[in-house]
Amino acid sequence: MSARDAQPKAIQLKDYRPPEYRIERTELHFDLRGDKTRVTSKLTLHRNPDAETHAQSLTLNGQDMTLVSVAIDGRKLDSDEYRLDDESLTLLSVPDTFELTTVGDIDPEHNTSLEGLYKSRTMYCTQCEAEGFRKITWYLDRPDVMSEFFTTIEADKAQFPVLLSNGNLIEEGDVGNDRHSDRHFATWHDPHKKPAYLFALVAGNLEHIEDHFTTQSGRQVTLRIFVEEKDLDKCDHAMTSLKHAMRWDEETYGREYDLDIFMIVAVDDFNMGAMENKGLNIFNTACVLAKPETTTDAGFQRVEGVVAHEYFHNWSGNRVTCRDWFQLSLKEGFTVYRDATFSADMGSPTVKRVEDVSLLRTLQFAEDAGPMAHPVRPDSYIEISNFYTLTVYEKGNEVVRMLANLLGPEEFRKGTDLYFERHDGQAVTTEDFVAAMEAVSGRDLTQFKRWYSQAGTPVLTVTDHWDEDAGEYHLTIAQSCPPTPESQSKQPFHIPVAMGLLGSAGALPLHRKGQAPDPETGDNTHTVLELTEPEQTFVFERLPEKPVPSLLRNFSAPVKLRYDYSRDDLVRLMSGDDDGFCRWDASQQLAIQVIQDVMQAYEQGDDIATASVDERLVDAYRSLLQDTSLDKAMVALMLTLPSEAYLAEQSDTIQVEAIHHSRAAVKRVVAQALKDDLRAIYEAYDHRKPYRPTAEDIAERSLKNVALSYLMTLSEPELLEACEQQYRYANNMTDTMAALSELVNSEAKGADSVREKALSEFYDYWKAEPLVVDQWLRVQATSHHPKALETVLELQKHPAFEANNPNKIRALVGAFSNANPVNFHRADGEGYRFLADQILRLNKVNPQIAARLLTPFTRWRRYPESLQALMKQALERIKAEPALSKDVYEVVSKTLV
Ligand code: TRP
Ligand code: ZN
Repeated sequence: MSARDAQPKAIQLKDYRPPEYRIERTELHFDLRGDKTRVTSKLTLHRNPDAETHAQSLTLNGQDMTLVSVAIDGRKLDSDEYRLDDESLTLLSVPDTFELTTVGDIDPEHNTSLEGLYKSRTMYCTQCEAEGFRKITWYLDRPDVMSEFFTTIEADKAQFPVLLSNGNLIEEGDVGNDRHSDRHFATWHDPHKKPAYLFALVAGNLEHIEDHFTTQSGRQVTLRIFVEEKDLDKCDHAMTSLKHAMRWDEETYGREYDLDIFMIVAVDDFNMGAMENKGLNIFNTACVLAKPETTTDAGFQRVEGVVAHEYFHNWSGNRVTCRDWFQLSLKEGFTVYRDATFSADMGSPTVKRVEDVSLLRTLQFAEDAGPMAHPVRPDSYIEISNFYTLTVYEKGNEVVRMLANLLGPEEFRKGTDLYFERHDGQAVTTEDFVAAMEAVSGRDLTQFKRWYSQAGTPVLTVTDHWDEDAGEYHLTIAQSCPPTPESQSKQPFHIPVAMGLLGSAGALPLHRKGQAPDPETGDNTHTVLELTEPEQTFVFERLPEKPVPSLLRNFSAPVKLRYDYSRDDLVRLMSGDDDGFCRWDASQQLAIQVIQDVMQAYEQGDDIATASVDERLVDAYRSLLQDTSLDKAMVALMLTLPSEAYLAEQSDTIQVEAIHHSRAAVKRVVAQALKDDLRAIYEAYDHRKPYRPTAEDIAERSLKNVALSYLMTLSEPELLEACEQQYRYANNMTDTMAALSELVNSEAKGADSVREKALSEFYDYWKAEPLVVDQWLRVQATSHHPKALETVLELQKHPAFEANNPNKIRALVGAFSNANPVNFHRADGEGYRFLADQILRLNKVNPQIAARLLTPFTRWRRYPESLQALMKQALERIKAEPALSKDVYEVVSKTLV
């Protein structure tokens, strides 16, 4: 973005108008020549009969390009026949049907924004979503303009032997008649009409692995994953994941792949995780490469999930796309729902659910309560890149999940079938998605749609009353939603609350007063209450004893639940509830209460080293450790104390140090009390077992490493040695990193030298593997050590760090400011000053990444006044920068309001 005098303008949903022209056919020619790459585009345009306006002129999007020529129907235009500015090209007089030829020069070599056509290490690649295509050629760069693409790429043969674009290869060869030409070309044709944001091009010296998939109707599809040669040994897991995803989408949604070839390309420099370009997905290496020696369990699972996500977009996003960018959640919320249910099916459903809910409740809830809060379908934006948010993705997923649960599996499948059939080849809205669900179910979802239009996290306040004589239990649920920037007062939501009642010996049968039992589900211990009013009371009768309510099972709605559970109730839920999610949630709530006890003592100035910790937590944990019948993954999750970020979410004013030290104190006391049980778990693990990324083995490793993490708080020399052994001899990166992270944070005697040695040996061994180096940076950036910021500053000068590579920035700067609260929120404000410096530097280099780094600053009002003042200062320093990108401007200005 260049400097502007005027403030950037917001785009409004209510201003949507259909395009004045359609682009039937798009023919592109790329002459790749480094900093002077020439793009020739031939577009066939027709006036849109559905347009509401009829102007003589036509404006195309285009930026950061040099115009060489423009012609209509083969006739070159004079300079008074068009107007060119920083963001557009206006043709002053256009016929109803015409062919437009533009020639422009672009500079991918120096394109650090990683948007449009750019160079990543040795290869050229593109990123067009959301509005990057306008940096490649002049176009109607909006998702409701869909076109058939023909793409020819011409490049140096030796440097760029592989030339790829969307669809099918239709021609390739040397350039010209010269048999000794050093340049070659390839022409690709994509028969499926698509918006420009799904365009992709890749040119590089790439190797690939190949496999095949036979679709349910018997079509053969070639599958290829392209990487730099050094990464060929890390593609197998992605290929397996892809085949699983293809089969799953046929079985679960009846969706088949629709081209003869499906390609994935891995690139090192990428702003996000991956991109669903038609037939040619482009991936951040971090989301596609995996092998046991270099990749953690979480990494393996990320690859499986992201490969599936991008593949699923072929239907939910590409075949049926978005009318405008306000509808982003139409494809993202739905596709996250699809990838989440896929991952649940591939591994452990409860673990997957707990992970997703943790993310939502810590980060999405914080977003929804802050200055950037917006509805799942926003009403306005300044820069659309800022709206690829947890709200659009994760809350959007929850909204689809609620629909799926309200309709039930059969009707939901009918609904998605109808949606795909009705809208194949169209650009549609979230209204259209819900309309398909209404059509198949006969339900009125008018109120439900408020989930798309109202921001903010609803709060359910639950009170109850037990009538011993009548054997009746009255449950009253009130809903409210705090104001957010787009609306002060909210109308009630339609909220499904899945629930059951727990007696002393287990689940109790549910008899809703005045309601016949549900004939369909044989299960009378589980039900879904549908809230639609500000307050509703539900009465259950014929109960033998006062129950403990099990509420919001499997997290049936994205809300905050307030019910005053006693600690004994929570212990009962932890061991006795049928719902795995609720058992885990009870363990979290109990731990929060116990940590909050210690926080109070801390605030009073007590010495919390020997804090008294409620025995009920210790006893509950002991039962978990000793019960060998339990799922290890569940035990590991339930033993993991709530994160500092989630604890921060629980209070109005965030006391960073109190949270950190109290959590650590509770962990230490628990470790001391359960030392023998923890050691037994740790020692039972066979460290020579060959690595497999299966749910079962992942569970075993995670429980063992949770045990290690507790034990390491005891700072005993013997344990330090065991940890060092694990670090040194582990045969997989999960165990190596778990141990390294404990070594980095250990306060045991002698830990300093062990840490230094481990870190330097690690780097020497792994320096040629960028994704491993990222983990090495991250573990240091998140160290609790008081000198962590100084380390981060040093690391920025280390050869391991690449200043403009998003993965490196996220591993060092992002990790420090998001996942190292005690050091980021240093009382002297140096953490804030550091982050502001990074944002100001990146503002020019890569505005998308710069704007994302602002997230921790958007929470500034949640901290004590002294920190607020320092954060505000940092924000004001950024705001004063004269050439702010739209991206950074939007977040800073909304945050300072
Ligand atoms: N559509 C991509 C996904 O969710 C997201 C994405 C990839 C993206 N790269 C981007 C969004 C760059 C904005 C900018 O799978
Ligand atoms: Zn997506």
